[in-house]
Amino acid sequence: MAAATIDAPFEVYRFDPAKDPSPRYQRYSLSLPPHTPVLTALLKIRAELDPSLTLRYSCRSAICGSCAMLVNSKSRLACQTQIGPEIARHGRIVVDPMRNLPVLRDLVTEMRPFWSNYRRIEPHLIVDPERPMPVDKPTTMTPEQVARFEETPRCIACAACYSACPAVEADPAFPGPMALAKLYRFVVDPRDAATKQRLVKIQPGGLWLCLRCHLCTEACPKGVRPSERIMDLKELALQAQGATEAGSRHALAFKDNIRERGILNELRLVRQTSGYGGILAQLPQGIRLVRKKPEIRKTPKEIQGREEVEKLYEILDPEEHS
Ligand code: FES
Repeated sequence: MAAATIDAPFEVYRFDPAKDPSPRYQRYSLSLPPHTPVLTALLKIRAELDPSLTLRYSCRSAICGSCAMLVNSKSRLACQTQIGPEIARHGRIVVDPMRNLPVLRDLVTEMRPFWSNYRRIEPHLIVDPERPMPVDKPTTMTPEQVARFEETPRCIACAACYSACPAVEADPAFPGPMALAKLYRFVVDPRDAATKQRLVKIQPGGLWLCLRCHLCTEACPKGVRPSERIMDLKELALQAQGATEAGSRHALAFKDNIRERGILNELRLVRQTSGYGGILAQLPQGIRLVRKKPEIRKTPKEIQGREEVEKLYEILDPEEHS
């Protein structure tokens, strides 16, 4: 018996700079079983309706990481995303190339920015030349040491996290979630001899730009949870170097600020993060902000029930209160 099919309206991003510099959406209608992967549907479109459709794929099994794209605005692997739930939720399937990477043609993006950011973290063990690893016997690690980085090797470098990341969108110099998750993997590896240098090097314009939105973790098809690895890196960077960067000072000032009154004092936050020089540098922006939001000039009143906030701090950071 043939599997039941559903109507699957597709709107696919089309762009061919050699023919037309303006991108457009092309509609296709298919009738397919609901469990059909989006990638299979796109290949059917290419085979039967439009041989000019360009996309990248290889394994069709969520292993190679080639088929990442936007499906209804979410960064997904097309081979892992079934059409049925998408149509049930959105009524159609809109397919776009990944964000934060230049589009070469249709659904194919230029991956060089992603890989050059990855290379910046020196993704290999750095061994102390004074203490080279023995070649004649295996290096052993405890199960606890291995457990610290068991999630990151699952990464298939599909760039779905990079595409989902608003920090990359705001500043292409931000290394991106995948590169930072891989950095964490080397930072906690007991065989690596460059832990502190890695943490010092990644901070300016890097680590602290992460907004903690967790969109990378939501997008990751392999459960690597890059945002949590980035938070771990921030903690390790503070331990290694203290709050010497604007980013780390901002994080600590934010924490103290909320704790004190249960609400953010934005003017004080700028001073604690960047000093009086920072206030001067941000004066034009500050004036615009005060014009729009005059109440910002007043020191905010302590919120009702601030003790509850204090209790949260005690739960989250028991050592600081012991
Ligand atoms: S085609 Fe390999 S991950 Fe989708």
